Amino acid sequence: MQSAIYNAYFGFSENPFNISPDPEFLYRSPQHEEALANLIYGVRGRKGFIVLSGEVGTGKTTMLECLRDYLDSQRIEFAFIFNSRLTPDQFFDMMAYDFDLQCDRKSKTDVLVALNALLVQQAERGRTCVLIVDEAHNLDWDVLEEIRLLGNLENRQGKLLQIILAGQPELDRKLDAPNLRQLKQRVVLRCTLNPLTADECAAYVETRLAHAGMTRQSVFSPEVLEEVARRSRGIPRLINLLCDNLLVTAFAMEQRAASIDMLDEVCQDLRLEWPGSHRGRGRSSRYSMDEELPQTPYAVGD
Ligand SMILES: Nc1ncnc2c1ncn2[C@@H]1O[C@H](COP(=O)(O)OP(=O)(O)O)[C@@H](O)[C@H]1O
Ligand SMILES: [Mg+2]
Repeated sequence: MQSAIYNAYFGFSENPFNISPDPEFLYRSPQHEEALANLIYGVRGRKGFIVLSGEVGTGKTTMLECLRDYLDSQRIEFAFIFNSRLTPDQFFDMMAYDFDLQCDRKSKTDVLVALNALLVQQAERGRTCVLIVDEAHNLDWDVLEEIRLLGNLENRQGKLLQIILAGQPELDRKLDAPNLRQLKQRVVLRCTLNPLTADECAAYVETRLAHAGMTRQSVFSPEVLEEVARRSRGIPRLINLLCDNLLVTAFAMEQRAASIDMLDEVCQDLRLEWPGSHRGRGRSSRYSMDEELPQTPYAVGD
């Protein structure tokens, strides 16, 4: 676990705003709760295809990590594919590797035979298997087609392989394409993660601080939290980025609490834009932005 320079100063046992998708820090917003419940229900009910979509940074990978913990606890076999820029051959290779299939992973036929054997063996024990693909909006058409075909494997109790596709909203649009109609028709469950509301944002920050050991937080005033919610547009990854930078600034200034002035400085350094903001000019960033943050602010109240 990455440790932040301000941890000792604020008395944190670990970095409260680490950007890794760690289920330990889970804030159970109603929609995150519902998404996870849907994923688990879909797997247990052998529903076949499940799609989880949401903008960058809304918590998709975190949900998948929670699902992974659940699957581990239930000893359900799964393959987790997080690199989705793959050729069909690479896809079969990775899936075989992750399912630990004993076969020639370079041969699609061998992989399919071995996978089928695993699915049948698990089904005989009353179990199912799960294929999880993160960043699925990046999947090529031909890989999506192979995945669709994997969804055909079934017995009388239902689908033998549960397939979870998680990705950005382009995934939904991709599935709307005429050549993917057949796949779209098979998606039985869909869940979407939306940005947090201002109240949820405050609860989110408090949950993370509490997990790091600060149960009654006094670092972020309600005014600062409201601004963090507005400027992050309710996107957890941006909330983390802002709060982390606010803590660094407060620490550097030997202050116990974050202020709106600090937030202004942080936003300028990060060159963050939000509805109603004016782009700060001329200053170079002290902290690097995370990859692939959304460029266009949402058109709400702007
Ligand atoms: N419900 C949540 N509880 C706690 N942290 C969350 C939650 N949702 C998102 N995060 C945090 O926000 C950041 C981005 O989440 P991530 O799952 O990587 O988003 P996505 O996969 O949608 O881009 C991570 O640091 C993650 O820990
Ligand atoms: Mg992700």
